[in-house]
Amino acid sequence: MICAGNWKMNMNPAQASAFARQLLAEVPATAKDKFVILPPALLAATVATELKGSGIGWGGQNCYCELKGAFTGENSPQLLAEMGAQYCLVGHSERRHVFGEQDELLAKKVAALQKVNVTPILCVGETLEDRRMSRTQEVIERQLAAGLQAADSSRPLWIAYEPVWAIGTGLVATPQQVEEAHSILRAACSATPILYGGSVKSDNVASLSGLNNVNGFLIGGASLDAREFVRIFQNSALG
Ligand code: PGA
Repeated sequence: MICAGNWKMNMNPAQASAFARQLLAEVPATAKDKFVILPPALLAATVATELKGSGIGWGGQNCYCELKGAFTGENSPQLLAEMGAQYCLVGHSERRHVFGEQDELLAKKVAALQKVNVTPILCVGETLEDRRMSRTQEVIERQLAAGLQAADSSRPLWIAYEPVWAIGTGLVATPQQVEEAHSILRAACSATPILYGGSVKSDNVASLSGLNNVNGFLIGGASLDAREFVRIFQNSALG
């Protein structure tokens, strides 16, 4: 099971270094490639330096769709690649709902990342209203198709299913809801790792990790504590 930790806009350089060192000390060599850290862009250099050569991956939380140029304040996919990032989130719920990012822009980001060999992690998920109106399938199929419009199917891509109502709320999707959504996504993407995200913690991960088409987890709040993050990985093996 892959465990990707989305730090969001948290941590500082000292905390990031301490976290990375603790992870290096606690994760057995055989499991290092199952861990991914997604730090804020300003901590990328710190994390890259700490993790270099360790097998633990890291990536961006967001990037722009152009590789360079006059785009003040944005982060380049190419720069991520040159710094050693292997992954980058695209279309996280907070990008879609707080910053208003639309499917068309997200499709361009996916393509730009693939061009520089950074694996996009395309996030999809329905709002509570979508679910209440029985629009979950329609919404996640649309977000997936739109996000992959310009994607290169010969290059790696990951998907994260994150129901908006489960992110940071303590409300976890039920195993049945997760399995249903992942099977919809699997039907469209046969060999793509599909992560679940939304209030995953060490005490609820086991019930989600044995499910069909769940290949790992995207963890927000609970990824800020290295010990808890490792425990999530350990308990995910119990599912
Ligand atoms: P959460 O966040 O684990 O704090 O719910 C998940 C995410 O936003 O990726």
